[in-house]
Amino acid sequence: MLKDIKRILISEEQIQSRIDELANQISNDYSDDESLLLVSILRGAFIFTADLARKLKVKHAVDFIAVASYNKSTSSGEVRLISDLRQSIEGRHVLIVEDIVDSGTTLRYLANLFRERNPASVKSCVMVSKDIVNNKNSNHHVDYLGFVIPDVWVVGYGLDYNDDYRTLPYIAELKF
Ligand code: PRP
Repeated sequence: MLKDIKRILISEEQIQSRIDELANQISNDYSDDESLLLVSILRGAFIFTADLARKLKVKHAVDFIAVASYNKSTSSGEVRLISDLRQSIEGRHVLIVEDIVDSGTTLRYLANLFRERNPASVKSCVMVSKDIVNNKNSNHHVDYLGFVIPDVWVVGYGLDYNDDYRTLPYIAELKF
């Protein structure tokens, strides 16, 4: 399987050390009585969520929501809600935890969906963002960002290609 890996973009050590920093920052920005709720976006964010949550020093709960794009290749802007949160987010401080922002469609859909539910706040924490997003200077706002990566197909640390490679401990570019 590893023969399909072109190069490692972000090593396991770099990922874990960046998560330490993000967890410290988030722990400083919220207080224990703010009822922080991490919302993990399935499936890709499950590994990042588990690592980040265990490094937080502030009180928090974790919930999950599953979404998928209707058609990845066309960036149609349509997102399908597969499985909703278990709990109400009314009055909660919501932190969306995502593995990647690519076109930004998923994050935008979720931020809009959650804001309609009267939370106390909605912020986002994303492991990697493609630099195409920032270069376009479009309206993708990420509050806590791990790394900016080139616009290539990446796998590992939750990211997949046809459901493979998700459990690699590093983020790598795939060979095509
Ligand atoms: C991936 C990823 C993000 C989304 C980012 O999910 O986990 O949720 O795409 O892309 P975007 O910024 O262009 O919307 P995917 O729909 O592949 O599902 P998965 O997490 O189950 O792999």
